[in-house]
Amino acid sequence: MRVISGIQTTGNLHLGNYLGAIKQWVAMQDAAEKDGGDCLFFLADLHALTGNITPADLANATIEMAATLLAAGIDDRSILFNQARVPAHAELCWILQGTARMGWLNRMTQWKDKAGKNRDSASVGLFTYPVLQAADILVYQATHVPVGEDQKQHLELTRDIAAKFNTDFGVELFPLPEPLISKAAPRIMSLRDGTAKMSKSDPSDMTRINLIDDDDTIAQKFRKARTDAEPLPDSFDALAERAEAKNLVTIYAALSDRPPQAVVEEYAGQGFGAFKPALADLAVSVLSPIRQRLTELLNDRAEVGVQLAKGAERAQALAAPTLKAAKEAVGL
Ligand code: ADP
Ligand code: NA
Repeated sequence: MRVISGIQTTGNLHLGNYLGAIKQWVAMQDAAEKDGGDCLFFLADLHALTGNITPADLANATIEMAATLLAAGIDDRSILFNQARVPAHAELCWILQGTARMGWLNRMTQWKDKAGKNRDSASVGLFTYPVLQAADILVYQATHVPVGEDQKQHLELTRDIAAKFNTDFGVELFPLPEPLISKAAPRIMSLRDGTAKMSKSDPSDMTRINLIDDDDTIAQKFRKARTDAEPLPDSFDALAERAEAKNLVTIYAALSDRPPQAVVEEYAGQGFGAFKPALADLAVSVLSPIRQRLTELLNDRAEVGVQLAKGAERAQALAAPTLKAAKEAVGL
């Protein structure tokens, strides 16, 4: 089993990113170690070029995202690197552009959504982005790809490209990668309003728990979180209509690796005057060590660069034989 996952390089990560994504990658790393598989995690800096970028922001976001992953527990058991440092991605992407069909890419809903009515002014890269995704996966002969709902169609496309390449050139080079359905990631809502997602896209949300926040700030944000006056029930399902309460229980459960039902049972009958301080303590105990490591790494960006260079070397070594075989298959 070889798992690969790409990560957008965006700065200023928050609790939603941690519980909804980063923590899942750490779990994948642990599972891969147990089952004897490999995990590759890459920062998708080549993909970033398909949108509007500010060069300095891109470079910073790549280092900050890498630092965050390292701080959260991604280590040498996995291969962590940025895409741009492993030229095999771009090389295989070009080869696969000969295999992918216009009609296939035209059907991608993400392309339709992102380009909207302004197709003529969209970058060519935005259109061919899914071919680079196919290369990201196939260059490692990855067997499994964790995918959210929004990426399912792109993984299907990767399978189509792999199958057509194998058929066209009479090789059995690319395995058809399978989606990896992990335990559903929790969706964390804003502490200001339990019906809006916690997101960096809302700069006005001062309640967002940023991974860089200090302990007091985290505790204070939880103490001030919006709730209602009812005590906690003994069933999680009974919180369906209480968005803020449900969100706080969801966060507690995710931070403590327990089912939400177990959390409500423990606090049943208690009000938020008791629950919020307990949640604040728990959050600080989980996030404080991550922030400390993150702060150290952000003060030593060169070290993060060294880690990424090591990861890139390992990734390139894994990719090289596949790229060579692909070139031979097409007669290069
Ligand atoms: P943002 O909404 O802050 O811009 P992104 O869209 O960059 O976050 O998402 C990065 C990753 O973090 C994705 O895997 C996404 O599913 C996850 N994620 C983002 N916000 C949340 C949230 N509030 N709850 C759970 N997961 C989230
Ligand atoms: Na976003």
